[in-house]
Amino acid sequence: MGMTIDTDIDLRHHGDLEASPGLLDFAVNVRRDQPPPWLRDVIEASLVDLARYPDDHAARMAVAARHGRSPDDVLLTAGAAEAFVLIARALRPRRAVVVHPQFTEPEAALRAAGHPVERVILTPETGFVLDPAQISPDADLVVIGNPTNPTSVLHPARTLDALVRSGRTLVVDEAFMDAVPSERGSWAGRPQPGVLVIRSLTKTWGLAGLRIGYLLGQPAVLDALRAAQPLWPVSTPALAAAQACSAAAAVHIAEADAVALGADRDYLVAELARIGIGVAGRPQAPFVLAWVDSGERLRLGLRDRGIAVRRGDTFPGLSSDWLRIAVRSRESTDQLICAIRQDLAP
Ligand SMILES: Cc1ncc(COP(=O)(O)O)c(C=O)c1O
Repeated sequence: MGMTIDTDIDLRHHGDLEASPGLLDFAVNVRRDQPPPWLRDVIEASLVDLARYPDDHAARMAVAARHGRSPDDVLLTAGAAEAFVLIARALRPRRAVVVHPQFTEPEAALRAAGHPVERVILTPETGFVLDPAQISPDADLVVIGNPTNPTSVLHPARTLDALVRSGRTLVVDEAFMDAVPSERGSWAGRPQPGVLVIRSLTKTWGLAGLRIGYLLGQPAVLDALRAAQPLWPVSTPALAAAQACSAAAAVHIAEADAVALGADRDYLVAELARIGIGVAGRPQAPFVLAWVDSGERLRLGLRDRGIAVRRGDTFPGLSSDWLRIAVRSRESTDQLICAIRQDLAP
């Protein structure tokens, strides 16, 4: 079961702090250097409307249609990051449980709003896979990532099904779900009382600087979350991007990218294995979690060679021997492997 702890980890440390300009970046999880040209055109075309206050109607309709849900089930946010803050501010959990290792902002937001947080820490022995019995039956707020950052684990639908219960809010962070072919295991298209799904458009589309994401859930809960938002939280260009990224053509591109990503990930995993480095579980996200004896030394050595990988030790449950490595092109992976070889050479 969970444990409540005063955190000594910097929960606000993220990959962007490690990918200093000029480094070959395997630390940040954004998949593109820039949004694709068609999306830049959409964003640019929206700029003529900047004198008007944003109207989220069209974006909400488009997101709803993309997931086969009612527009009332959609709340647009300034990135998935805003969604965590809204949940923390609007809900009053008695017993909040965060399944770790995972992205630390949900816990940081809950703590900042004054809620005690229990951690359920998954371990490498089980491949960082959750057994629903690990969650206390009286947890009334449970936060889980699917697929999970940084472990790259995709929890099966039956695990999440087993976490739904009356009186509980289950928050499923699907920030990386659009990188999973067919979005296997996604809860986005399944309206269900008590389940809140968080999506991000910043990773797949290279929009981290634009800030755009959304929540899917029951209208009554979304109303409570909306009440915690400032007026006009999502800008007109971000709304234009949300609408465009929800169109069938964009979803089609994301699907093709997800399939290609799988091949690049297989290549990365195989190349790491060839130099004796294993990864956790069966990775399903745009990054892998690698275990390296003296990982800290390797991470700093790679920095000296111009390459950034994400340290693991700021995730609850991981030590500095864990490194999160983004899936990149084969050429970039070759550069990484070459640098690791040089660094590990006696
Ligand atoms: C698992 C996870 N959820 C949410 C976010 C936040 O995404 P956004 O850029 O949409 O705020 C991140 C960012 O790294 C993440 O890793």
